Amino acid sequence: MLFLLLLLPMSGLVTEAFFGSHSRGCSWGLERYFNGVANRVLPGHGYCNLTLPSLAMCGMECFIDDRCLTFHYSEGERRCELNGATASRYPMALIERAGTDYFSPEQPSFAELLTNGREVPIRLTDCWYHTHASAASECRRTGQHLCLQWELDHASKEGYPATPPSWYADPDSQAVLTETGVTYHDLPLTAPSPGLCCSLPMTYRDPVITPQSYDLADRAGQVRGCSDLAAHPCTLAELKEAYDHGYRSLYWGYLATPNRDTRVDGCTHHKDDECYQGTIANTPRPATRKQVYCCPNRV
Ligand SMILES: *[C@@H]1O[C@H](CO)[C@@H](O)[C@H](O)[C@H]1NC(C)=O
Repeated sequence: MLFLLLLLPMSGLVTEAFFGSHSRGCSWGLERYFNGVANRVLPGHGYCNLTLPSLAMCGMECFIDDRCLTFHYSEGERRCELNGATASRYPMALIERAGTDYFSPEQPSFAELLTNGREVPIRLTDCWYHTHASAASECRRTGQHLCLQWELDHASKEGYPATPPSWYADPDSQAVLTETGVTYHDLPLTAPSPGLCCSLPMTYRDPVITPQSYDLADRAGQVRGCSDLAAHPCTLAELKEAYDHGYRSLYWGYLATPNRDTRVDGCTHHKDDECYQGTIANTPRPATRKQVYCCPNRV
């Protein structure tokens, strides 16, 4: 966990090494990706120093030795030190040493870290991918899709652990889950990244408001904005359900009913035909350009 946090600010330094017969799919065979942390070592757990001409050979030595959990490689000295411990076990022990890099061949199992068994159908792929398309196809292989933004927001609120920069639904950027929320970054130039796969359905999801505003008459645009979020403009009944789940929003936005606006505040100032079932304020006086309340599609 802490190890991952250490990795985050250094994602630019994540180094990749693979070896052996180059077959597709990294969960078997000798092809593995190694997380590298530049200029760091985990002292005190080495049990063997070898002189080897390449990082890949050092990785191979570690891979075939059952005692080896991680290794150090010094490019300058061509020194390969095999370690019997991981930085995830001793996160505070990873110290700076110029010229030597720490490599951890294992990928942590994020599924294990999920908080108290609450269902968050999201997983980080074991393999790291160079392209959005290959990450997407790995998600499809298990009946999932690359997570949409609102799914990541939800997962983050549910306590999903921090991740390195990862592929998600938007092909133009990468998502990083941190302790405090989700952030989005430009694509790295070379580093491979894991994919964040999500699976519908979740039992209940809060409405989401489209990032963009739409003209009142642009119903097609409003529907499209929601559909980009795997959702549709909310009906009053859905907003009532959301309210009953504790969702509140003071923003006046469009909804499924044309030419009205709504907010989810318990009808503090509205009544009669401007208050749906005592909970959802909605008026026939919408502004001409607003964002839309979208309710997640259920399958
Ligand atoms: C390997 O070499 C490094 C650098 O000389 C040293 O710090 C480390 O203790 C050695 N490890 C073992 C297991 O001898």
